Amino acid sequence: MQYSEEKVILNNGSYMPSIGFGTSLIEGKECILNVKQALEAGYRHIDTASAYENESYIGEAIKESNIPREEIFITSKVWKDSMGYEKTIESFNKSLQNLGLDYIDLYLIHWPRNNDKNLNIETWRALEDLYKQGKVKAIGVSNFLKHHLDIILDNCEIVPMVDQLEIHPGLTRKETVKFCKENNIVVEAWAPLGKGKMLQNEKLVEIAEKYNKSVAQICIKWCLQNGIVPLPKTTNWNRMLENKDVFDFLILDEDIDFINSMSFFAGSDMDPNKS
Ligand code: A2P
Repeated sequence: MQYSEEKVILNNGSYMPSIGFGTSLIEGKECILNVKQALEAGYRHIDTASAYENESYIGEAIKESNIPREEIFITSKVWKDSMGYEKTIESFNKSLQNLGLDYIDLYLIHWPRNNDKNLNIETWRALEDLYKQGKVKAIGVSNFLKHHLDIILDNCEIVPMVDQLEIHPGLTRKETVKFCKENNIVVEAWAPLGKGKMLQNEKLVEIAEKYNKSVAQICIKWCLQNGIVPLPKTTNWNRMLENKDVFDFLILDEDIDFINSMSFFAGSDMDPNKS
């Protein structure tokens, strides 16, 4: 992956802002306010999904922000119960309508199906067609581990541009990230702060103090220095600014290596092998 401070380049040549704003679990008026604030704070990459049930609020926030559409990078995802060729196309059209947009920047398969690999392949075929029709500018997957990606790569016309995974200190997904890098697939990190559970970790607090930064900033910068696009989430204005303010320092290799080697200590309980 090519990486600059502000953006990364996907394998189809399109750009994606290098820090995204996560929106799971925020709905209604709070979501409109939250996303408007994030746009005001300078985020230009918003991550949603049909399963978050907030696409229409995000669409409203984008409209109210008056920021030109082409300046905002929007991701959405097809949920597990809408997989398969026809249902995926239907779900995509619903997302488009809910967002009030005429294209989506990045569309992902939200979770792999472990008990029906053909469903993953059929769903991918739908994403390829949406891409060829120009309704989506880039396509990818989410929560796909190497063995899930193997099946897609063996059966695809278009190699996924992105794989979005739960990644934070203690959960590096080493094998899948290496595989993605070898195949020019950009990795995004959901829950880069481990859903907030990273922030009290003594070792991370120690590293953060050394750089005069917060633990959240260390987690975000650690992603970036590993070539991963973080999607932090916050409902707080100051923390929105804090989470983007990570371009004035570099974490030393020895600290990156240390964080890379941390054992699992917290995160979500969601397992891509059980979806
Ligand atoms: P809040 O919304 O009150 O800021 P993740 O992105 O890994 O899912 O983590 C999100 C959680 O981390 C939320 O609970 C959020 O709470 C909290 N959070 C986000 N940014 C920060 C920050 N800079 N400092 C402390 N907590 C943060």
